[in-house]
Amino acid sequence: MKLLVTGGAGFIGSNFIIDWYKNSKVPIINLDKLTYASNKENLNDVNIPSDLYSLIEGDICDGKLVKKIFEENEISSVINFAAESHVDRSINDPELFIKTNVIGTYRLLQASLDYFKENPNNDFRFLHVSTDEVYGDLEKNDPSFTEDNQFKPNSPYSASKASSDHLVRAFNKTYNLPTIISNCSNNYGPYQFPEKLIPLTIKNAISNKSIGLYGDGSQIRDWLYVSDHCSALRKILDKGEIGQTYNIGGDSEKTNLEVVLKICSILDNLIPRDDKTSYSELITYIKDRPGHDKRYAINSSRLKNNLGWSPCEEFDSGIYKTVHWYLKNSNWLSKNQSTNLEGWLKQHYNEND
Ligand code: NAD
Ligand code: DAU
Repeated sequence: MKLLVTGGAGFIGSNFIIDWYKNSKVPIINLDKLTYASNKENLNDVNIPSDLYSLIEGDICDGKLVKKIFEENEISSVINFAAESHVDRSINDPELFIKTNVIGTYRLLQASLDYFKENPNNDFRFLHVSTDEVYGDLEKNDPSFTEDNQFKPNSPYSASKASSDHLVRAFNKTYNLPTIISNCSNNYGPYQFPEKLIPLTIKNAISNKSIGLYGDGSQIRDWLYVSDHCSALRKILDKGEIGQTYNIGGDSEKTNLEVVLKICSILDNLIPRDDKTSYSELITYIKDRPGHDKRYAINSSRLKNNLGWSPCEEFDSGIYKTVHWYLKNSNWLSKNQSTNLEGWLKQHYNEND
C-alpha cells in the first residue's frame, strides 16, 4: 500500500514527506506539477530509500493520469496539498487558482471515488489540506474561527480553496467517499517559497533590500511552525473522524510588523550589519493588498480535545530556527526566485515606495 501525496515538492508537502519517514515506512507517491513554487531537490536533503518514494511529475487536473496512478498502485490514502497558494498571485491572475484548486481537487476526488468503489477499504481516507482563509477575517476582539464559522472568503485564492472544501464535503455526503478536511493557519519554517512574508523578509534583509509591509503592518496572522502542521495531519489521517473538518492553529497571533521586527532583531544578533544599524531600518510601508484580511485566529479545540494534538513549537523558538535555516541555506533562497509576479508587484505595491 502507498500513500498518494499531491504537491509534495512544495513547502508544506516537502516538510510532510520528510517528517513522514521519521514516523512511518509506508511508501509515498508524490504527484506534483513542479510549478515555480516547488523544489524537488528539497527531498534530497534527507536520505529516503528509493523503494519508499517516487515522484510523478504531473497535474492533478489531468484526470487520465490520476486514474492511471490509482489503477497501477494500491493506494492506502490520499493527502491533497497541491494548490496554487499565494494570495497576491490569485489577485493578479485568478484563473490558474480555479483550475488547480477547484477542477484539480474535483479530478482527484472523482478518481479517488472510482478507486474506492472498486477497492472498498475501511482505512481509506481522502485528506484535503485547506486553509483558515476560507472563513474570511476577524475584527480585533472577535472569537477565533471554529469549524462552525460561515465561509466568507475574500480573495480569489481563498474562494478557490473554499470551493474545493465544498466539493470534498459533497463527495462525502453524496457518495460516501471517506473524506476529511483540515483548515490551517499560516505556516512558517524551512523550504517556504520566498514570496511569502517570512522568507521574503529574510531574503530582502540579507540582500540589503527594502522590507515591504502592506498597509500599516497591523494585520494579524496565527503562526504555526510547519512540523506542527505535519504532526496534526498525521494525527488526522490516523484517527480523524470521516466527514469531519479540523481547524489547526498555532495559538500565536502576531501582527505583520511584530513578525518582521522579530526577524530583524534575530538577524541583528546573528549577522550584524556593517554599519551596526538594525535591519529594521529596511522596513518600508507600501500600498495595502486589495481585500486584505485583517486578522486570522484559529480555535483548534476539536483537534486538541478529540485527537490529542497540540503544537510543540513556540513562535520565538520556531522563528529563530527558521531564520537560522534560511541563513544556512542561502543558496536555496537565491535559487528559488519569484517569477512572473514582479510586474504586478511593482505596479501595485511600489507606488508609495
Ligand atoms: P506551495 O505553493 O509551497 O506548494 C504547492 C505545491 O503544489 C507545489 O509543489 C506545486 O508544484 C504543486 N502544484 C501546484 N499546482 C499543481 C497541480 N495542478 N498539480 C500538481 N501539483 C501542483 O504551497 P504550500 O504553502 O506548501 O501549501 C500546501 C497546501 O496547504 C495548499 O493546499 C495550501 O492551500 C494549504 N495551506 C497552506 C498554508 C501556508 O501557510 N502555506 C496554510 C494552510 C493551508
Ligand atoms: O492563513 C493561511 C494562508 O497563509 C495560506 O492558506 C496561504 O497559502 C499562505 O500563503 C498564507 O497566506 P497569507 O496571505 O496570510 O501569507 P503571506 O505570507 O502572503 O502574507 C502574510 C501577511 O503579510 C499578510 O497579511 C500580507 C502581509 N505581507 C505579505 C508579503 C508577501 C506583507 O505585508 N508584505 C509582503 O511582502
